[in-house]
Amino acid sequence: MFTKIGQTQEESVRVWFEGCEMTVGKGLSVAAALLGEGITHFRNTPVTAAERGPFCMMGVCFDCLLVIDGQANLQACMVEVSEGMCIERQCGAADPELDPALAATANRGETTP
Ligand code: FES
Repeated sequence: MFTKIGQTQEESVRVWFEGCEMTVGKGLSVAAALLGEGITHFRNTPVTAAERGPFCMMGVCFDCLLVIDGQANLQACMVEVSEGMCIERQCGAADPELDPALAATANRGETTP
């Protein structure tokens, strides 16, 4: 689906997506790196479980939410890959137990994005 253009010898980092190791270009956003590996399903919506993937690639649409290194609700297009990063799909609403910031919000009775 996506093809790298102007590819040069680049430095790389190892990341894990859903437990699978992959080597991706250093400096890429998580979204660009996963799309480059052919991964387009990043999250499922909370209500219908519809599959979503990056759309805007600039932090506007929130369709690229992932759980990165245990922190939910991170926009993959706004986070740079780093060595050893653990990336998981976000299925439905984020689990407050995975994200202390969400748990604090839930305890105050506030809604989250
Ligand atoms: S792709 Fe739209 S916010 Fe990340």
